[in-house]
This record gives sequence, C-alpha cells and structure tokens, in this order.
Amino acid sequence: MAAARAATHHSLVSASILDSDLASLSRECRRALKGGADRIHLDVMDGHFVPNITFGPGIIKKLRKIGKQPFDAHLMISEPSRYMDQFIDAGCDSITFHVEVEEPIEPTLLKIRKAGRLAGLALKPATPLSALDPYRDLVDIIMVMTVEPGFGGQHFMPEPAAKISDVKRLMAGHRDVLVHADGGVSADTAAVVGGYGVDVCIVGSALFQRGQDAANEVQAVKRNAGAAPWPG
Ligand code: DX5
Ligand code: ZN
Repeated sequence: MAAARAATHHSLVSASILDSDLASLSRECRRALKGGADRIHLDVMDGHFVPNITFGPGIIKKLRKIGKQPFDAHLMISEPSRYMDQFIDAGCDSITFHVEVEEPIEPTLLKIRKAGRLAGLALKPATPLSALDPYRDLVDIIMVMTVEPGFGGQHFMPEPAAKISDVKRLMAGHRDVLVHADGGVSADTAAVVGGYGVDVCIVGSALFQRGQDAANEVQAVKRNAGAAPWPG
C-alpha cells in the first residue's frame, strides 16, 4: 500500500450533506454522487455533544435506498452505544463516533465491527492523538476534525490537520487505517490535507453552496489533494 501511494496518491471525496437542501436530501445525495463523490458523510448531532441537532437513523434508513455508495455516519452524540443498533440497522457502512465521549469506547467499536461495518473514532481539533492509543487495534477509520464539530461552513483549521500525517506514521506497517479529514475542506484547502496523505476528504458547504457546480468542486478537491507532494 505505502509503495503504491508514494507513486499515485489518490484521495477520495465523501460529501457531507449537512449544508445541502435538507428538504431534498435524496436528491442532494444523488447530485453529489453524480458529481463524482465516492461516499456520503452523514453528520448526526444530538444537541448535547455539540450545540446543534441534525438527523438520526430513521432518516439515514430512508436515504439508504438511493444506492449502494458507502454511507459514513459521523456521530456527534454523547451516547453512541445507546443508538448503535439503530445505526447498524439503518445500513451505515462505517460508523465513527468521538473519542471524547464519556462512556466506554471499546465495546461500541467491537459492536460496529461485529456487525461487519468499519469502526471509526473522531478527534476534535484540541484532542491529542494519544487519546487513540488504547484503541489502535480496534479502529478502521480515524477522522481528524479540522473545525470544531457542530456546524458546516466554518473556516479550515490548518494546525490539527497535521495530525493526519502523524496518524499515518503511527499506523504505518501496523494496520491499514483510513484517515478522513473533516471540516472546511474544499478546493482551496485540499492541498494541505493531501500533503499529509489524507485518504478521504469530507466536503460539505463547498459542494452545496448556492450556484456551486458539485462536479467541479469534487474534481478540484481530488486534483489538489492528489497533486500535493506526499508525505508532507
Ligand atoms: C461539522 C461536520 C462536518 C461538516 C463539513 O461538525 O462534522 O462534516 O458538515 O462541512 P464543511 O465542509 O462545510 O466544513
Ligand atoms: Zn462530519
């Protein structure tokens, strides 16, 4: 894998539908996928872990009918264990929750994997990588937040993005973990996360802004992330 990447470093795009037209979610998902997005990123917020409320497993289950493209759930909720069966039942291909939650983490990661899905942990900008140490063998995805979780359309934070290459170094030769970058990623900032070797760029408002051509943005993000010299 490392050798292949050194030659041709490709980042995938996962479209975050948080800032899309929430009244037409399935149409917006199709628009992003038609524009070349590889996956759909689903921001679930409970108004407690973050100061915003979005949607839950019921809506995701309805959306699941749009096609087979991977659904990545990003749970910004305080009690992921309480709702895990519902997210698994809703058809999420990967389920990522935050390492900062105040409940046991290992059993929930094991449950996600037992259901045959990818298990992930997300880190807020101020959370050090060492928070992941107990779970290195239990995660398939590490989501590096490059904004404070809670809202789309925020400015990209370059400092926490550096954790992406640290994760790569930490996990190199140890395990294949996909590193996602979430928050403020667009054609303008893709080169930064690409330079750190990101695997999946999560793109929200930049894709769904009024008058924005989703396909152009997706291609520009992939081009700029891929063009960045790696490892940065
Ligand atoms: C923020 C969410 C992100 C956000 C991305 O808490 O986790 O997924 O929707 O949107 P942009 O790209 O607009 O920052
Ligand atoms: Zn997200």
